[in-house]
Amino acid sequence: MTMSHIIRAANLLKTGGLVAFPTETVYGLGADARNKEAVNRIFLAKKRPKTHPLIVHLADVEALSDWARAIPDDAKKLANTFWPGPLTMILLKQEGVLHEITGNQETIALRIPKHPVALALLQAFGGGIAAPSANQFTHVSPTTTDAVREELGDAVDMILEGGPCEIGLESTIIDLSQTIPRILRPGMITHHALEACLGKSVQRNEQTLQTTRAPGMHTLHYAPSTTTLLLSTEEIEQALQNVDTKPTLLLAYHADALRLPSSVHLITLSADPTQYAHELYHTLRAADHLKPARIWIQAVPMDSTWDAIRDRIQKASGQR
Ligand code: TXA
Ligand code: MG
Repeated sequence: MTMSHIIRAANLLKTGGLVAFPTETVYGLGADARNKEAVNRIFLAKKRPKTHPLIVHLADVEALSDWARAIPDDAKKLANTFWPGPLTMILLKQEGVLHEITGNQETIALRIPKHPVALALLQAFGGGIAAPSANQFTHVSPTTTDAVREELGDAVDMILEGGPCEIGLESTIIDLSQTIPRILRPGMITHHALEACLGKSVQRNEQTLQTTRAPGMHTLHYAPSTTTLLLSTEEIEQALQNVDTKPTLLLAYHADALRLPSSVHLITLSADPTQYAHELYHTLRAADHLKPARIWIQAVPMDSTWDAIRDRIQKASGQR
């Protein structure tokens, strides 16, 4: 990765192109956030419904007022503590922001990423870059350039190399457009860390507080193409009682006590949530490539440091 790659990528953005770029969370599929045609190309490339709004990535906090019409003290506190970094804030949008970005809502999602390649691109481009994760709608987000190529192929004009993403899960999204701050998507910046920074309570979803979710109750997201089930350790033990002989992949962080038949292959993930998050999407993608009959994922601890992981594995095991 050299400066000439960054300049070429910035020029592509200026002329309406799509550039995939690394962030510390996952790879993003970027377009000029002020260019309607370019933003529309994002939705086409991802086969993403127009109602799903996009995050606008910025180079620095000075640019915030170009995109948000009110910047509450809470936003300033969070920006000081967590930006650049894996936090997205929902604020009231500034006038003139494209409807395609906001999904026709009054709010906008904003984030300053930490990855040096993302920051170099933002600086060279000199404006906001709209970027969802660089995957097909409902698929697992890419954490390497190989995964981006697999997801987007020719639909993207350029892919900037930045190595494997350090965090490996999408940013925490906090809504600051209402009176009480609320987490819309858990990430590796935890509920606890947000409350500690703001000195007040922050709401979160009920689902985040459950080990698994009732099948059929939720839509598929962040999902491999193989049928994927999220099971507690007890449920795995029960399932092992009458599992067929087709190959099953079990992703577990703590499986010492389980006695597995030869048709069930164990992939061990880290028992440390930071490392687990870093490995998860890459492992799900690799598991999918092996084309097993099914993937089982062991439920993770209820501790809030696992909230983001619990959320993603709940969604990966959604009804298809
Ligand atoms: O880590 C990340 O956030 C990555 C990297 C590339 O920055 N981006 C990412 O974007 O995950 P995407 O589009 O895959 O997910 C963004 C989420 C969507 O679920 C979308 O509905 C939500 O942000 N979102 C965007 N604008 C919103 C708004 N105004 N109000 C509520 N939710 C919003
Ligand atoms: Mg996404």
